[in-house]
Amino acid sequence: MNAKNTDFGTFAQDVMLGLSSTPKTLPSKYFYDSKGDKLFQKIMALPEYYLTRKEYEILESQHKQILAPILSLNQSFNLIELGAGDGMKTKILLRYLSKLKVDFTYYPVDFSGSVLEELEESLANELPDLKVNPIQDTYRESLKKQVWEDGRPNLILFMGANLGNFGVDEAKNIINHLRVGTKKGDLVLIGFDLKKDPQTILNAYHDKQGVTQEFNMNLLDRLNRELEADFDRDSFTHWPTYDPVSGECRSYLISQKAQNVNIGALNQTFNFEAYESIFTEISKKYSLSEISHLASLGGFEVKENFMDSEGYFADVLWERQ
Ligand code: AVI
Repeated sequence: MNAKNTDFGTFAQDVMLGLSSTPKTLPSKYFYDSKGDKLFQKIMALPEYYLTRKEYEILESQHKQILAPILSLNQSFNLIELGAGDGMKTKILLRYLSKLKVDFTYYPVDFSGSVLEELEESLANELPDLKVNPIQDTYRESLKKQVWEDGRPNLILFMGANLGNFGVDEAKNIINHLRVGTKKGDLVLIGFDLKKDPQTILNAYHDKQGVTQEFNMNLLDRLNRELEADFDRDSFTHWPTYDPVSGECRSYLISQKAQNVNIGALNQTFNFEAYESIFTEISKKYSLSEISHLASLGGFEVKENFMDSEGYFADVLWERQ
């Protein structure tokens, strides 16, 4: 997501709703303005943030096995990617498929038009023969419209632990959309960060350099910049938590003192008690049994779980029943 794609009315409304709630919340989708996009790039390179490296390892070492089921159909197909981003990881799959000279069309779906333009340009340079059909839309809307549907088999990629940024009910809702957006025999590949030593997880969201703190705080800067708010960021702290039972890693901003914050664009003052929190993000970690349960609830069968050497992350391949 990018600032250019944020609808001002919806943003203001979401902030009004979130800060009027008890406990206070702000939606994590608003992390991703152009500064937030850059901070997330930095997060992905942090020593503590294992997720990106682990998924990269899975794709590097197991791309042949991941693509074997779709290739075994000996038919041309569609490769759809929800939340394509910079396509760094996907390029591992695209390069391999191009080398095999199989016939397929790549449909990167992203909410950000600028992200799609950059991706299209880099693919045109690197893989000029690739058939690319970018779709600027949300996950759910694109699955409703299914512009790619032409009777050929589909492989839908939903990588990067993005499903973890939704609560359990919303995650189920997205899986339902995946069912509605596919036909029998279609495949989906979903990235899940797995439950592991709680300290490892907590460190990933509380890095020593403070980049994740900056990422979380950027929400307040963004409200100051775009909604004429007067948050004093020095009086808030970044507070990530991890519950090993639910697998929910939750991030908060904690007001270090009693204070009032004005938001000019909302013509509203919000009152914070000392140590009151704003809930900003959920990053759910799953067990393999929870993932299988999610698959069967959604009408999918688990074909294979692809994991890195330490069992930190899984890209799971499901078949639509
Ligand atoms: C994009 N998403 C999968 C990241 C995550 O791990 O939940 C966002 C993130 N938040 C803090 N660090 C990274």
